[in-house]
Amino acid sequence: MTQIQMIQNPSFSLISTKKIIQMNDVWTSYDSKNFALKGINISIDRGTNYAIIGQSGSGKSTLLKLMNGMMNPSKGTIKIDYVSPNMNNKKFKNMMHTIGYIPQSLGLVKNISVLENTLLGALPRLSKMQSLFKKFPEHEIKEAKRILNLVGLSGKEDRKAYMLSGGEKRRVAIARALMQKPTILLADEIVSELDHVTAHEIMDLVADAQKRMNLTAIMVHHDMQLALEYANRVAVIKEGQKILEIGVEGDTIVDFQTGDMTSDDIMEMYAGDTKK
Ligand SMILES: Nc1ncnc2c1ncn2[C@@H]1O[C@H](COP(=O)(O)OP(=O)(O)OP(=O)(O)O)[C@@H](O)[C@H]1O
Ligand SMILES: [Mg+2]
Repeated sequence: MTQIQMIQNPSFSLISTKKIIQMNDVWTSYDSKNFALKGINISIDRGTNYAIIGQSGSGKSTLLKLMNGMMNPSKGTIKIDYVSPNMNNKKFKNMMHTIGYIPQSLGLVKNISVLENTLLGALPRLSKMQSLFKKFPEHEIKEAKRILNLVGLSGKEDRKAYMLSGGEKRRVAIARALMQKPTILLADEIVSELDHVTAHEIMDLVADAQKRMNLTAIMVHHDMQLALEYANRVAVIKEGQKILEIGVEGDTIVDFQTGDMTSDDIMEMYAGDTKK
């Protein structure tokens, strides 16, 4: 049965279905011999902060690429807001701008400024002519500056991306994604290898954006502690399979699919070896 929820908005009420991401027995392969993902089932409610963790090579980035339509499943079905994420699917192409994707490499343009990188998020809203000449309207420039202020980068708008620190680069990537006015944020290890304080600042930024924009965030992490601190649900991927999914409700860890593992086993498994 489809669950329905009302999203409250000061100006109008929108009826919206609850499930925003559904993956059903999804398999995928890069070389049609070895499967990078095997039988993945995932169901994500709108507004959730969903974390994916797992060791290097387990398939986390591949999972995000499938949600973003950059890869197709060999088997199984994926629905993003009830649409198949496939570049040949016109319906998906029309909604792609609502998915803010931050790749593991961040994908910033090195030689252009912080402001220009952020404005790239507004490109889908520009007319063909404006887009050709990268001529951004004044209100978009104002919005980009507002978002840069939000992510703690005001005063650095004109700095070239290559001159930024690792933490600052991640803030720009978040700003560019928020500039898209997304409904889904896919973020691939954007806080890995950052110091504890900066990692928390960046996670707080995403949490704040989620509250403001009713955003669904799917974030890949290496650190189970951090995932548990921020996520409503945490899925653990091992060798292409989802081996468990846990939820956090208040201070309690709730099991959704843990097999025989206890929460102590889970913490032990990911206590020491989660960082690259
Ligand atoms: N472009 C590619 N061509 C072939 N195989 C690939 C490609 N990208 C990833 N793979 C393989 O798919 C598997 C999953 O890779 P993926 O990048 O999803 O892992 P990951 O969990 O994101 O790892 P990491 O934590 O190191 O980023 C790995 O075995 C990897 O070698
Ligand atoms: Mg990866």
